[in-house]
Amino acid sequence: MEQDFLPLKGTDYIEFYVGNAKQSAHFYQHAFGFELIAYRGPETGVRDRASYVLQQNKVRFVLTSSLVPDSDISRHVLQHGDGVKVLALWVDDAEKSYYETMRRGAESISKPETIEDEHGKVVISAIKTYGDTVHKFIERSDYHGPFLPGFMQVDSLLKTKPIGLKYIDHCVGNVELGDMNKWVNFYEEVMGFKLLITFDDKDISTEYSALMSKVVSNGNGYIKFPINEPAEGKRKSQIEEYIDFYHGAGVQHVALATDDIIYTVAELRSRGVDFLYVPDVYYNDLLDRVGPIEEDLQPLKDLNILVDRDEEGYLLQIFTKPVQDRPTVFYEIIQRKGAKSFGKGNFKALFEAIEREQEIRGNL
Ligand code: FE2
Repeated sequence: MEQDFLPLKGTDYIEFYVGNAKQSAHFYQHAFGFELIAYRGPETGVRDRASYVLQQNKVRFVLTSSLVPDSDISRHVLQHGDGVKVLALWVDDAEKSYYETMRRGAESISKPETIEDEHGKVVISAIKTYGDTVHKFIERSDYHGPFLPGFMQVDSLLKTKPIGLKYIDHCVGNVELGDMNKWVNFYEEVMGFKLLITFDDKDISTEYSALMSKVVSNGNGYIKFPINEPAEGKRKSQIEEYIDFYHGAGVQHVALATDDIIYTVAELRSRGVDFLYVPDVYYNDLLDRVGPIEEDLQPLKDLNILVDRDEEGYLLQIFTKPVQDRPTVFYEIIQRKGAKSFGKGNFKALFEAIEREQEIRGNL
């Protein structure tokens, strides 16, 4: 068998560049139940930025704001609004990851660098992906601190209640019209990923808008990146709306896995998180479409949770509305019961729901 030249152990963290990291951290603590575990900023000797590290099981988010008007962070926020800057990948060898991908055509962001503090050392390197988004390779076998060297441990006054988020299931990128294959090739050629699934506009179209999507996955399947591009429809595609407001390609949604979606979504709703609305008719013939499921239908209907089935099992999923003022980044909550797919059977119901929101924003 072919050797995996880029073995990935999982998603290390996702870093967002935001306008006000302190307040964003509060949102993720309160609404999503993340625990604030580490911090870096002026108090730790970093003068130009502040970063808050949030964790829930294997999901780790970093929220970073600029403290100066002219920096990569402030320019990123000016251009894109709050959004994902870094999809960090956990590796055994950040130097090898860098040179193997560079040899295959990656564009460098930063060469391998060893950073240390009293808790040990890590090696970090980085390459570019779509838009202004980057992949960092994080090697942390010799590190025992709260996050990365330079971050201090935080004991937050806000005691949060986790909502059952376990790990990052997949992370979706929106790219400009005509660019999907370029980025699928990038993941195949440069990072050694395999193409898992293709959806064309016949799978994913409504009366108004359409999109195309291809899903790539790394060797062990821990990392899955669907890549979307807009397709021609009667009106503006939701992907185009994203690109217009993000001013370029970027991360569209992060799917967070739970073992108990009814509990997770009930908690999120009670803490004020808004979800896309799917009309009651969706549930009328649901069990005819997907066959028997373990959950009662009523709570799924009450919480607006969607169900889909593939050859291997079924899955339950739901999508939040955008979590910032621009109609860009949102979340998916997903519970897999054997299914390894992405909810193709829900696309139509879902996109009609997104279009209702687009219409209200005047962007359809
Ligand atoms: Fe998804």
